[in-house]
Parts: sequence; C-alpha cells; structure tokens
Amino acid sequence: MAFGDYQFEIYLQGLAGVLPTFPMTYTELEAKAAAALSPSVWSYVAGGAGDERTQRINVTAFDGWGLIPRMFVGAAERDLSIDLFGMRLPSPIFMAPIGVIGICAQDGHGDLASARAAAATGVPMMVSTLTADPLEDVAAEFGGTPGLFQLYTPKDRELAASLVQRAESAGYKAIVVTLDTWVPGWRPRDLSTSNFPQLRGHCLSNYFSDPVFRASLAQAPEENPQAAILSWIQTFGNPLTWDDLPWLRSLTDLPLIVKGICHPDDVRRARDGGVDGIYCSTHGGRQANGGLPALDCLPDVVAAADGMPVLFDSGIRTGADIIKALALGATAVGIGRPYAYGLALGGTAGIVHVLRSLLAEADLIMAVDGYPSRLDLTPEALRRVS
Ligand SMILES: Cc1cc2nc3c(=O)[nH]c(=O)nc-3n(C[C@H](O)[C@H](O)[C@H](O)COP(=O)(O)O)c2cc1C
Repeated sequence: MAFGDYQFEIYLQGLAGVLPTFPMTYTELEAKAAAALSPSVWSYVAGGAGDERTQRINVTAFDGWGLIPRMFVGAAERDLSIDLFGMRLPSPIFMAPIGVIGICAQDGHGDLASARAAAATGVPMMVSTLTADPLEDVAAEFGGTPGLFQLYTPKDRELAASLVQRAESAGYKAIVVTLDTWVPGWRPRDLSTSNFPQLRGHCLSNYFSDPVFRASLAQAPEENPQAAILSWIQTFGNPLTWDDLPWLRSLTDLPLIVKGICHPDDVRRARDGGVDGIYCSTHGGRQANGGLPALDCLPDVVAAADGMPVLFDSGIRTGADIIKALALGATAVGIGRPYAYGLALGGTAGIVHVLRSLLAEADLIMAVDGYPSRLDLTPEALRRVS
C-alpha cells in the first residue's frame, strides 16, 4: 500500500459517516495539544531558547524553497524507502529523541507509546537518554522496527559506557551522541515558571536503573530520590571536546552519529574521527537562539559529509518539508514536536496518525509533481521562492 492511500481510508470512512478523530493540519494539532497537556509540560515542549526566533525560522525556512513539478512522469508508484547503516527502512523519517516524551502521554508512559507507534508504522524511534521507562522496556515494544539510542554523555565515563552497553544489549542499531545540550539553553518560558522536569525527578529512569549510577549513590534512588537527582545533576552534562571523540568512538562498534553538527568543518573533523553519520539539527531552536535555521545549514553539511549519511531535523511540520529536506540532501528526516503533540492527543494512535499523515502528504507530492523515487529528489528539483 502506498503511503498516500491514507487519504482513501479517511474518505471511505467519511462515506460511512466517520470523521477523522485527530487533526489534519499542524496548526490544529498544536492548538489541541496545548489544551491537552498540563501547562508546565506544554510550555516545556513548545518553548525554545531566547525569544524563539531560531525556533520560528527553523520552520519558515522551508517557505524559501519550492519543488518544481514535472509532468508526463507517470509516478504511479513511489519509493520512499532508504538504506541507513545497513537497515532497509520503508520511509525516510524517524522520531527524533524527545527527552520528556514519557510525560507527554496521559498515562506517563509516552516512551512505550512511541515505541509501539514505531512498531505500527516502521518509522524508527530514536530514544533519548531521558526516558520515563528504561531503554530496555522501550526496546521491547519496537516490534520489527529498528531503534536508535541517543546518548547524553555523562561526565562519568563509566556510566556513559554502561548506557551504551545497555543499548547494545537491548538491540539498538546505532548510538547518537547529542553535542549541543551539555548545558540547557536560556529558555524564558521555563525560567518564568521555574520549570525543569528532570529536576523534579521526571524521565530519569535510565539513570536510576543503571548499575553504575546506582553504585555511585549512598542510598538507592527509591529511598532517597532527592540525593539521586542531585547526583544526576552533577553528572548529566559533559562539555565534550574533539579530544573526547576517540573515547566515544571506542565505546561501541555500532554506527556512531553525532547530533547538532551544522558547520562543514565540524562535519569533516567528525568524519576524520571515525563517526558513521552526521545529524544536522539546531535542536528545534531550544538550545541557542540567534542562529541560522537548520535547513540553511544542510546543503554545506551534506557537501562536507561527502556521501556519509546526514540525518536532519528542526522545523519539519508537513510532508512538503520532508520532501524539501530530502531534496537538499538529507538521508533521513527527524520528526520532533509533531509526534509529541500526536501522543498528547491520542497515545500511540495519535502518533501513528501524525506519521501516516506526514508520509501520505510527502508521497502524494512525489506522485503529483513527478518524482517517483527518493533518488529523484535532488537540489535541482528545488527553486528559490521569490
Ligand atoms: C520537548 C523536547 C525534548 C527534547 N529532548 C531531546 C533529547 O532528549 N535529546 C535530543 O538529542 N534532542 C532532544 N530534543 C530535540 C529533538 O530531537 C529535535 O532536534 C527537535 O525537536 C527538532 O525540532 P522541531 O521539533 O521543532 O522540529 C527535544 C525536543 C523537544 C521539543
């Protein structure tokens, strides 16, 4: 079945008098999620750094590009599948790591719900270090869909090694090291309500269940959560330098991807240091304001990667955005806030709806505009919007 056929499902149900339960536009999805989530979780997820200009231009940057239609192509079948580190994936999207996805679900188990959405759609989940349920329990819900583990590198190297080793044992297919978040960015929305979920003990299950972390505590986290949180604060953010890359590389034989890379020189240096993939992202504008939209960084990153896979996120809201990111050279595209909002509205079913809608729109654009395969989507397919 083509991804675009989702529209026929919806129209056919309409004939039986059944209308879609979940929103069909991002604007409505966002508005309904704002109403469904508690104010503190909503502002944490929706908010960004500074006056949120980088967050906004991450989104509007996509308006600067347009796909040029080609006719007489007969793109009756489209192939959106990709190869990524030896994995054959049915579509070019994945769920970006969202540290508080656990508490975006009404039952507090959003990591499990997201993993079930991965199982249902074949869209891989990149699981954050900051989960409400331990990474092993999340992996158990993946079904046949591969999962990736995102590491926030702790200062304690033994703990870092333990987290990576657990991810390997649980069957994760790659390790993604996020480089732009060893310290939280300046986030006025969260500051004005003095709200930082992890400081309240949320989403620390991977630490509290870790043998190395637990051994470092005088009392178990169940007995003295406050002391465990303090210990977490002390180890969470490691301001890595290039000197740490050989050690990171030595932690695993799995593909190693570095997230937050936007400068071509950093791409080349990471490549020389033995990484397997680059993840171009501005963290959805949550970390540093005053930057470029991630999309503007993508072409130079792709050029410097010189054939190495480039994952991309920040600002993807529609199927059209996915197409543009692919055409600018992304190997795979990360969905962030939209799936968190789908989860808030309808658990696994809400995420499945969001992912299927994004893929349906992307697929139908390829059909209508005559780009039958992902390989046809190149920079030449795009024009600047004047
Ligand atoms: C609430 C929230 C929590 C996030 N937590 C993480 C995380 O734990 N690890 C990480 O690498 N990125 C994290 N990110 C960044 C996402 O992986 C991704 O880069 C970002 O959401 C893309 O921007 P967009 O959602 O605006 O498209 C988080 C993003 C949001 C919105």
